[in-house]
Amino acid sequence: MIKIGIIGAMEEEITPILALFPQAQEIALGGNVFYHIAYKGAEIYVAYSKIGKVHSAITASTMILRFGCEKVIFCGVAGGLDTDLAVGDLLLGSKLCQHDVDISAFGHPLGFIPESRVFIETDENLNAIARQVALESNITLKEGIIASGDAFIHSKEKKQWIIENFGAAAVEMEGASVAVVCDSFKVPCCILRSISDSADGAADVSFDEFLDSSARIGANFVKQMIDRLV
Ligand code: ADE
Repeated sequence: MIKIGIIGAMEEEITPILALFPQAQEIALGGNVFYHIAYKGAEIYVAYSKIGKVHSAITASTMILRFGCEKVIFCGVAGGLDTDLAVGDLLLGSKLCQHDVDISAFGHPLGFIPESRVFIETDENLNAIARQVALESNITLKEGIIASGDAFIHSKEKKQWIIENFGAAAVEMEGASVAVVCDSFKVPCCILRSISDSADGAADVSFDEFLDSSARIGANFVKQMIDRLV
């Protein structure tokens, strides 16, 4: 019986997922509530981690080590950096990096941690399923590097700095930490983001306006991925 973990950062990001799976049993653990769903012979665990890399790492670790999740999908919103990305667009993270890691004082590249890597790749099989869902549903799914950090990016200078240093297409606050946890435990992971803002001076207003609608787009997409996994 396959076990799949679905993580969002905020309650708003998992509400539309839970709405698609009405019969969930709640398990409180480690500061999170995990929603356990028996679906077509599979076990699905859904939780929102709370914002940021630390919280999302806790949630991903709990999903894997306590609940035995064999695949992890992160579904939430992101700020678009690429001019090609508009609000509502879906982006598949090809690889993840941490834009706020800086030990360049010791000669290391930005984003690099010894014994780790600047970029953590996501799982090719899960990504192929995402591409297939997009193709069959006539949804445009873009792909690119996602940069994570413990800050909401809302200025064109910072946005430009992240593009220049990491070649990122989007920015958010959890994907890289989930990818690091999954990579550490050899659990396939997929990071799916729908764009809520452009990480510029108007990002906060745009985020508030589009959080729910963008989260719904991601949730419907993840449901279709789950239907192909179970
Ligand atoms: N998530 C959605 N928009 C974001 C932004 N502008 N910065 C960081 N995380 C985000």
